[in-house]
Amino acid sequence: MNRHQVFESKEVGLSAVPTGRKVKIVIDGESICLINNNDTFQAVSNSCPHLGESLVKGTLNYLGEIVCPWHSYRFNLQTGEESSRRCRDLRVYKIIEEEGTIYIEL
Ligand code: FES
Repeated sequence: MNRHQVFESKEVGLSAVPTGRKVKIVIDGESICLINNNDTFQAVSNSCPHLGESLVKGTLNYLGEIVCPWHSYRFNLQTGEESSRRCRDLRVYKIIEEEGTIYIEL
């Protein structure tokens, strides 16, 4: 596992990615969808496991799932599991906050 700094502080992160927003970041060639879900950062692969649509263009629903914009498959942001098991799980990345700094583990 490699740890990469995402934001130097949570405050910087919250102002760069306000609550409910998503951004695409690329680390070590991996395209990642970084999400601010109620001021908690979560990260998943940006590529939908169904047919590869970019999940940064998706939406967050009231269940805290990310909904793919193409065929509306819904993925749990904790487990990566699709709500009806219609495709393989979405890769979920671990976000770590340590001494105020936000990191992602790949
Ligand atoms: S490409 Fe995401 S649901 Fe089909």
